Amino acid sequence: MEDQTIADTRQVSAIGQKVTIRGWIRTRRDSKGGFSFLEVNDGSCLGNLQVVADGELPNYESEIKKLTTGCSVVITGEVKESPAKGQKTEMQADSVKVIGWCDPESYPLQKKRHSFEFLREIAHLRPRSNTFGAVARVRNQICQSVHQFFQERQFFYIHTPVITASDCEGAGEMFQVTSLNLEKMLKAAPKEVDYTQDFFEREAHLTVSGQLEAETYACALSKVYTFGPTFRAENSNTSRHLAEFWMIEPEMAFYDLQDDMTLAEAFIKRIVGDCLSKCEEDMDFFGKWVDKSLLERLEKVASSDFLRLSYTDAVEILTKSKQTFEYPVDWGKDLQSEHERFLTEKEFKQPVILHDYPRTIKPFYMRLNNDDRTVAAMDVLVPGVGEIIGGSQREERYEILEERMKAQDLDLEEYWWYLDLRRFGSVPHAGFGLGLERMVQFVTGMENIRDVIPFPRTPGSAEF
Ligand code: 4AD
Ligand code: MG
Repeated sequence: MEDQTIADTRQVSAIGQKVTIRGWIRTRRDSKGGFSFLEVNDGSCLGNLQVVADGELPNYESEIKKLTTGCSVVITGEVKESPAKGQKTEMQADSVKVIGWCDPESYPLQKKRHSFEFLREIAHLRPRSNTFGAVARVRNQICQSVHQFFQERQFFYIHTPVITASDCEGAGEMFQVTSLNLEKMLKAAPKEVDYTQDFFEREAHLTVSGQLEAETYACALSKVYTFGPTFRAENSNTSRHLAEFWMIEPEMAFYDLQDDMTLAEAFIKRIVGDCLSKCEEDMDFFGKWVDKSLLERLEKVASSDFLRLSYTDAVEILTKSKQTFEYPVDWGKDLQSEHERFLTEKEFKQPVILHDYPRTIKPFYMRLNNDDRTVAAMDVLVPGVGEIIGGSQREERYEILEERMKAQDLDLEEYWWYLDLRRFGSVPHAGFGLGLERMVQFVTGMENIRDVIPFPRTPGSAEF
C-alpha cells in the first residue's frame, strides 16, 4: 500500500502526482455540470481533500451519487492545483471505490455543529469531528515534545508501576485492586477482609503518582521521568478532574526547588512553542472556534518569564484584594481553585509559580524549610486552567522524613524502601508532576477536561 496521506496531498509539492487516498466522506456536493465534489478526510490533518468525481466514472450514478457523510472510500487520481479558495490542491478522480456505506438515517454525526455534551455520548465517533481530530493531533504533539524535551536533556524514561501498595499523596483517594470474589465474600458472614488471601497477599491499589518509585531511579540515574496513567478516586465532578489521567513526572537528583521551578517553566514553554509551530492548522482552528484569545495568550506564555510568588505573599494579595471569594483565605489553609485562578487570570494575567506552602497541608515527602512552618513545594498556575503542575524538593534527611511520616500516621514499615534512599547515599533531589490533560486544555483552550482525553473516566461514568 502506498503511504500517501491527505496531509501530503494538500501540499503544493503533490501537484502532478498520481496518488491513492483512503478516508471518510465529509460531504458530497453535486454540480449542475454532471459531476460531484467529494470532501474526504483521513484524520492526517484538519483539512479535507476536495475530490472532483466526473459523471463519466462507471459507478457515478450507482454509487458516487449515493455517498453520504461517514462513508469510507479509496480514491485514485491526479493531484491538481485548485482554483478554489482555502486549498492549494484538489484531486481529479480516476476511480472511486466505496469500502463501507454509512446509513444517513442512523449515523449520529451530521454536517452541522454538534454540542460537546452530545459528542461525549458518542465518544467512539467523535474523533471524526474537526474538534476532536484536532485535539487528538495536538495531544500527540504534546507527548512527542515531552519525550524530546527530556531526552535532549539526558533524562531517562522509566516505567513506574500502575499497581502499588503505597499512597504517594497520602490523600486516601485510591482505587483498590483485588482478585477476591467480593460477591462471594458478601454472602459469607461479614467479617474482616483477609488480604493475605488476596492476589498480592496484601492491600493493593492503582497508583496516584509514580513519584516515590521515580525517586529510587533518580537516586541512581540522576535524571529520570515517568509518563503514564494515574488514578484518583476523588469525588470531584469538575471540568478539571478525571479519575484516570496521564501524568508526566520528572525527578532529578541534586536539584533544589529553584532548579525544579526553572525546569518546569522551560518544559511548559517548550510544549507551547512546539504546538504553535508544528500544529499550525489545528491551533488556528482552536483560536477561531474554541477560544479567540488563545493564540495571543500562548505566544505570551512562550516568550515571557513566569512570576514566582511565595504562598505567604499570595495569601496577603488575596486577603487584600477586593474580589469576593466563596471560600475564605487564611494562612495555613489550602488555596481553592477560585483563588489560584484569580492570581493567574486577574491579578497577574500570566503563569504564576507559587512556592513554599504550609507544611500541614502538604504530603510527607516535601522538604521542610528552615522556618519549620513551610515546605519546599511549588505549584504552577496558568490562565484558563489553574494548577497545571505540582512539585517539590524532597525531604532527604532521614530523621526529619521519619518525623513527618509519623505525624501523618503513615506506617513506616510499608515505606522501608523509600526510607532506605535516605540511609544509603542520600542526596537532595526534586521533581514535579504535569497533568497531561490539563496541558492539553491549556494549549487548545478546551473548557472541559472530558473533551481532551479519548474516553474520560469520571464519578459515575466509565462508558466505552
Ligand atoms: O499536584 P499533584 O497531586 O502532585 C503529585 O501527584 C506529585 N506526586 C507530583 C510529583 O511531584 N511528581 O498532581 C500533579 C498534577 C496536577 O498539577 C494536575 O495537573 C494533575 O497532576 N492532576 C490531575 N489531572 C486531572 N485529574 C485529576 N484528578 C488530577 N489530579 C492531579
Ligand atoms: Mg497538586
